[in-house]
Amino acid sequence: MLSWDDFDTEDTTTAPATKAAPKPTAPVADSPVIENIAEGSVEDARQISADDSDAIARAKAALDELDVQEGLDDLEGAAARVQVGDKQMINARADLNQLVPFKYDWAWQKYLDGCANHWMPQEVNMTADIALWKSADGLTEDERRIVKRNLGFFSTADSLVANNLVLAVYRLITNPECRQYILRQAFEEAIHTHAYQYCIESLGMDEGEIFNMYHEIPSVAKKASWGLKYTRSISDPTFNTGTPETDRQFLRNLIAYYCVLEGVFFYCGFTQILSMGRRNKMTGTAEQFQYILRDESMHLNFGIDVINQIKIENPHLWDDAMKDEATQMILQGTQLEIEYARDTMPRGVLGMNAAMMEDYLKFIANRRLTQIGLKEQYPGTTNPFPWMSEIMDLKKEKNFFETRVIEYQTGGALSWD
Ligand SMILES: [Fe+2]
Ligand SMILES: [Fe+2]
Repeated sequence: MLSWDDFDTEDTTTAPATKAAPKPTAPVADSPVIENIAEGSVEDARQISADDSDAIARAKAALDELDVQEGLDDLEGAAARVQVGDKQMINARADLNQLVPFKYDWAWQKYLDGCANHWMPQEVNMTADIALWKSADGLTEDERRIVKRNLGFFSTADSLVANNLVLAVYRLITNPECRQYILRQAFEEAIHTHAYQYCIESLGMDEGEIFNMYHEIPSVAKKASWGLKYTRSISDPTFNTGTPETDRQFLRNLIAYYCVLEGVFFYCGFTQILSMGRRNKMTGTAEQFQYILRDESMHLNFGIDVINQIKIENPHLWDDAMKDEATQMILQGTQLEIEYARDTMPRGVLGMNAAMMEDYLKFIANRRLTQIGLKEQYPGTTNPFPWMSEIMDLKKEKNFFETRVIEYQTGGALSWD
């Protein structure tokens, strides 16, 4: 906690008498009077005096040329006071620098929940992982393959998500409370990339091999390039929404990133690493992934709320062709993730195999489809890994937020029971 006493000794440039001043409990009238030796108008302050150096004189003179209106005209949106009804998810004309009044309370709430969920990778103890990874018979070849492939995929994927958010999505979402959450999400993506880097470094892996998997390993490369094409289509600085075609292009990007990248592409890897943690292997890495999964489930829920709100505000965008396209995108993503499951699990491992993972991914795909109002495409699929839902369960997430402050201070570990 900061204390203002800390600053008393530092700041000796003005009114040293205040150092001995009583704390605010004393009446203001008893405080020492500081003489106002700089009284005068704002205009007087701008006058160039004989004491001013050439640099100061030039700075003052330059401000005489300042056109305040020109600066205000550059701000995004109209300058009038914002009413809730002026706010829109895309193509809003309201001033984007006025956070309140809120229209989307859920976005602000997610921002607060994200902040309450703050964690850092260095808090997680990696000692047991390092010993296990370095011992000759600690893990099977299949288990080692899973750890490497997932660190390879995720170390790049979170950076793709962050770039898409900051370079494309942020500019096109025209609502300040959603932008506030996007800034929080962007920081969380940086923490996730940091977490993967921290695992890779702790375990002493070949960094070149891991960070280049998205170029070199086909099952990783296909997922990365599938996402990248959606960033490319809207990251051109001259791209703007405002026509049905460009609005749909933006909607495609949101579906690609929130529903497919964060909503499908993360799930095989999360399940594999968390399953390892449940079996008491690589528990530090698994704990990092558990914190990341909790962040990700909130990113996903935010994205789904944004997509559904855009649909409500712009019903003409959500026609049969767009519904078919969105369904196709989620099915393509699911297919790529099924292929990734086969590549990472050529044999049964950790009580799971590629066929069980395929069922799980179809179950996840059904959820993603229905969350944005589309029909299930794999009817009758059940969840072979119910413990995954438990990890993401909202109530548990709330408990996690409540206990996190204590854990944050003590660095306590999660239990895998
Ligand atoms: Fe992430
Ligand atoms: Fe994310």
